[in-house]
Amino acid sequence: MYLNEATFENYRNISSFSFLFDREINILYGKNAQGKTNVIEGIYLFGNGKSFRHARERDLIRYDSDHARITIAYTDSARENRMQYRISREAPKEISKNGIKIGKMSGFIGNFKAVLFCPEHLSIVKNEPAERRSFLDGAISQFHRPYLAALMEYKKLLEQRNALLKNYEKNKEGFSLTAEVLSEKLAADAAFITQTRANYLQRLFALVNEYLLQMTGGRETVDFRYLSAIMRDDLSQLFDRDENFRKYQYIFSKDLQKEAIIGTTLSGSHKDDFEILLNGMNAKYFASQGQQRSIALAMKLAEGELSRQESGEYPVFLLDDVLSELDRERKKYILSELHGRQVIITTCDENDFKDISNAKKIYVENGTYTYI
Ligand SMILES: Nc1ncnc2c1ncn2[C@@H]1O[C@H](COP(=O)(O)OP(=O)(O)OP(=O)(O)O)[C@@H](O)[C@H]1O
Ligand SMILES: [Mg+2]
Repeated sequence: MYLNEATFENYRNISSFSFLFDREINILYGKNAQGKTNVIEGIYLFGNGKSFRHARERDLIRYDSDHARITIAYTDSARENRMQYRISREAPKEISKNGIKIGKMSGFIGNFKAVLFCPEHLSIVKNEPAERRSFLDGAISQFHRPYLAALMEYKKLLEQRNALLKNYEKNKEGFSLTAEVLSEKLAADAAFITQTRANYLQRLFALVNEYLLQMTGGRETVDFRYLSAIMRDDLSQLFDRDENFRKYQYIFSKDLQKEAIIGTTLSGSHKDDFEILLNGMNAKYFASQGQQRSIALAMKLAEGELSRQESGEYPVFLLDDVLSELDRERKKYILSELHGRQVIITTCDENDFKDISNAKKIYVENGTYTYI
């Protein structure tokens, strides 16, 4: 998959600009706060449907404008496609592909595929569980529509169940019946979500290991431990969706009284997490910062590789500000691994690309872009 063009209008500090990208390395460079990440963020909207910086939609619109629009043209194995993302201060956002309006996020995500690698990901080993879940959800959703649909439904059901639990005192009549219906639906989605994540992680970490072995010359091995309310010690238990369903149902009904007092759902796939093990030990506590970064880097490369295995083509790699965070060896490694794939890189440091030949370079200053 290749991103050919991206046109920004009134997005963040970009009033209007059309980028033409090379099919190999593209480098956006310039001082801080000039508009490098803004470009990556705008492109990644098409990968994940929302700002990776957790910005509210209206914050993406240029201060003095009432709407923002980004249009991309990308080639996949079938054809060239155009997609558009329009955000307005007054109306709901409008998204389209090849001129046809897309009404649901689940029809939008999974078209343009990208892997984002930014400084926050470098600490994925020790970040909060929510960030590891968000990594999994973002990566899997881009190629697995049923997973994305289950995630969205789960979110709604969880909100409904939590609202019911919160109002328990006021609304005891009919509580048990509604709780039972919601718990059953929630358990069905949770069973599938947990199973899919466990499966993905198993495939991901097989690759992470290969990358890490290459990076460290065969000294280190990585593994993961899935953390879920329905699992004891054997990961393969989670591959049985029916069994997962029964276990979630059991937990939801067992905890119901307690949850009604507290007013929230205590367990479920929204609490899943995984621990990363380096040479058998929890990497959060035992790995050095450099080792943690190598693991993160290997995870991102593996994410791209799994995306290719699923869809038959490489996604676009977006590297925001990570090169200068990596030492020379790792920098060399990532660039050699990404050779021949499309990469869009941002950096403040011109030294980052002095070893890179034939890259397309774009100088960024105050929301304006100049090809060098
Ligand atoms: N809605 C908006 N309207 C106008 N300008 C905005 C808006 N949102 C952010 N900006 C401006 O965009 C700039 C930040 O851009 P960006 O995050 O892309 O910087 P950067 O070049 O990646 O910098 P760094 O190297 O520090 O990461 C800031 O100057 C900020 O004021
Ligand atoms: Mg930036």
